[in-house]
Amino acid sequence: MATVADSKQSALVPRPQVRQTQCFIGGKWIPAASGKTFDTLHPATEEVIAQVAEGDKEDIDAAVDAARAQFDGGEWSQMNARDRGRLMYKLADLIEEEADELAALETLDNGKPISDARAADIPLVIQCLRYYAGWADKIQGATIPIDGEMFCYTRREPVGVVGQIIPWNFPALMVAWKWGPALAAGCTIVMKPAEQTPLSCLRMARLAQKAGIPDGVINVVPGYGPTAGAALVEHPGVDKIAFTGEGTTAKIIQRAAAETVKRLTFELGGKSPNVIFADADLEAAIDGSHFGLYFNQGQCCCAGSRLYVQSKAYDEVCDRLASLNSQRRVGDPFDPETQQGPQVDQAQFDKILKYVEFGKADGAQLLTGGKRAGDCGYFVEPTLFAGVTDDMRIAREEIFGPVLSVLKFDDVDEIARRANDTDFGLAAAIWTSDVSKAHRLAARLRAGTVWVNCYNAFDSAAPFGGFKHSGIGRELGEEGLRAYTESKTVTIKLG
Ligand code: NAI
Ligand code: MG
Repeated sequence: MATVADSKQSALVPRPQVRQTQCFIGGKWIPAASGKTFDTLHPATEEVIAQVAEGDKEDIDAAVDAARAQFDGGEWSQMNARDRGRLMYKLADLIEEEADELAALETLDNGKPISDARAADIPLVIQCLRYYAGWADKIQGATIPIDGEMFCYTRREPVGVVGQIIPWNFPALMVAWKWGPALAAGCTIVMKPAEQTPLSCLRMARLAQKAGIPDGVINVVPGYGPTAGAALVEHPGVDKIAFTGEGTTAKIIQRAAAETVKRLTFELGGKSPNVIFADADLEAAIDGSHFGLYFNQGQCCCAGSRLYVQSKAYDEVCDRLASLNSQRRVGDPFDPETQQGPQVDQAQFDKILKYVEFGKADGAQLLTGGKRAGDCGYFVEPTLFAGVTDDMRIAREEIFGPVLSVLKFDDVDEIARRANDTDFGLAAAIWTSDVSKAHRLAARLRAGTVWVNCYNAFDSAAPFGGFKHSGIGRELGEEGLRAYTESKTVTIKLG
């Protein structure tokens, strides 16, 4: 492994300036009512990069008032739908103009390699906003043939004021996934970004303002979950909560939201099975499976963290994964050659190393990694466990780091049963050259997304979300848009 210490650095991408650190409420940039701030860190060096307004209940109240006034006033929700779409396209254009700076901000705040931020995060942000901009004037109801001399039709109306709570693993992309459908539908927004990574969201709010999206449509309150986040969930003026994060947080939110009967969509974690059959193109399967777990430092809700390999191919797959890990460039995320940066924070770093200990104690075979990389920043070596069995904690629980568990299987019925033996159901993948086998197994897997001969193939047009404990509802695509609408039935008795 090329580590932090010995990586010869190519020309580093310059660090971006941090411009927005305050709450964005009703079109104004304001400090938290309490005057408090919190630090956001650069995970590669642990240095403080900015002090950000620490919003709490009072700031959430002000933001919901602004979003409510904008929604009830109807400027945004009743604007010509085509004009709403045009402003969204404008926002996407402004992000594209600033793509490099936004990518660098993402690298600074989250620690992800600049090459990933440039090639994946920011292009997907732009794609998502354009995709939903195109929907703005295509949201239609139906005419329904009911009995009698009646005319019956449905309207799809915006759900209202939406509270959006997002995590730190894809900070800007989660903003786009949440804002895109909400804006297209005509909703107004109060967003609470993750406390680890508030900066790109605040920058995007500034660009939304520059694009001409009216004041009060988008409001951002940075802060912590149990304070600002909880206040948003409990607020009676909020019609819906869209949340991405951990399952235990989702349960707290679901309980709290019951009081005000809020609409909820959840995108939660996973322990996604990735199945390699011996008849697969093994080179593609190995590269794709490596990417499917180690991309973004393993901090993906859909990470293919249970890799099941058919016995005949098992040793070869393990050997080649180990060799890919030994070549992986771990280091300064501002170095364009870097493939793996640090984990987002100390808590995630500690959690991952704890799971490495569980793996060893349970008798899994550590083939690579297992330790901190370098001596500063939250770097973890690319870690590979072979000989993993279904009952081990590293095969059952979400680690959210660069730790891959490889398990062995023999036949299709066995793998369908074992792959589904989990409370999660976010994603799965199948590698095989037998297309009939792929279709049959895809139908049996209890997961919201099944990739065949690929991994992490995302597109704004394709719905994404979880079965079972991995979520409620879908994001992206038309289904993602519907989750921001209410259906209204209008029935007219003809005279
Ligand atoms: P988290 O669920 O605590 O945080 C996600 C968001 O929820 C943040 O904005 C946070 O401030 C907010 N939040 C926390 N408590 C809240 C509450 N009581 N009310 C309202 N909002 C609240 O996730 P965390 O602690 O950052 O990560 C822990 C684990 O969760 C990770 O190790 C990983 O396993 C999983 N995770 C899954 C993600 C996914 O994409 N599905 C993303 C991030 C984490
Ligand atoms: Mg938490």
